[in-house]
Amino acid sequence: MNPNQALWEKGDFTRIADTMRESGEALVRSIGVTRGSKVLDLGCGDGTTAIPSARLGADVLGVDIARNLVEAGNRRAEELRLPNCRFQEGDACNLNGLKDRTFDLTVSIFGAMFAPKPFDVAKEMVRVTKPGGRIVMGNWIPNDPTLVAQILKISSAYTPPPPEGFVSPMTWGVESHVIERFGAAGIAKEKVGFARDTFTFNHPKPPSELVETFRKFYGPTMNAFEAAEKNGKSAELAKELDTLFNSHNKSGRKDATTIPATFLRVTVAC
Ligand SMILES: C[S@@+](CC[C@H](N)C(=O)[O-])C[C@H]1O[C@@H](n2cnc3c(N)ncnc32)[C@H](O)[C@@H]1O
Repeated sequence: MNPNQALWEKGDFTRIADTMRESGEALVRSIGVTRGSKVLDLGCGDGTTAIPSARLGADVLGVDIARNLVEAGNRRAEELRLPNCRFQEGDACNLNGLKDRTFDLTVSIFGAMFAPKPFDVAKEMVRVTKPGGRIVMGNWIPNDPTLVAQILKISSAYTPPPPEGFVSPMTWGVESHVIERFGAAGIAKEKVGFARDTFTFNHPKPPSELVETFRKFYGPTMNAFEAAEKNGKSAELAKELDTLFNSHNKSGRKDATTIPATFLRVTVAC
């Protein structure tokens, strides 16, 4: 199986996405999704941003490489009676089956950044977006001191080095790389805008329980624990993550978790 697909099907990202609902809704409200517009959500998971976009009346297609998340998204859309929101399997590196110039807005929040061929991803996003339309990406930032960049940094210290030629997903959080990738897809650098934004993880339990959720259900953390276990270092990894989550908790309580994380918001005018 494609290792990129295996990574995301390994766990159950819906358990993490449950903590991201409010920020997903806020983000969608802030990017001007309009009734009747055609929206592609790439690397959509179970619909953190696809579902709120559909609630605003857009005609939404969610595409994700993980079959379990596509199924979960379709279940949510059905339960919420949103016939204008559907989910299907697909790879951000090659959106075959999607026609050129189809979408008014292509959104990818912490999604397409995980696909292994970033230049192909940029080309595909530009190809399926209508001229005059927009692409909005949310990308974690390498070495950022906030939660997700730190989880990925800590985890990578316990996992074997990636295969040669592997491009870190975090490079999507570096402006010069983003400009280069969209430039190769025919977009002038003046048409690419950047802003720092915040996504908040909310969990009705203590931070240590959120660490456990990541350990059991978040593919990259699961892999880190598997590798750490082999080296007898899983307790060390657990301790590092526990300290990280507890020190970033802004809920003001010990029995609840609210952790903000900074990301790079990229807006491309096509
Ligand atoms: C961190 S999750 C974010 C999911 C969702 N956007 C959200 O905010 O809840 C990353 C998502 O990207 C998807 N993904 C990873 N590589 C992909 C690829 N090559 N093509 C499409 N989706 C991909 C994963 O399956 C997963 O759902």
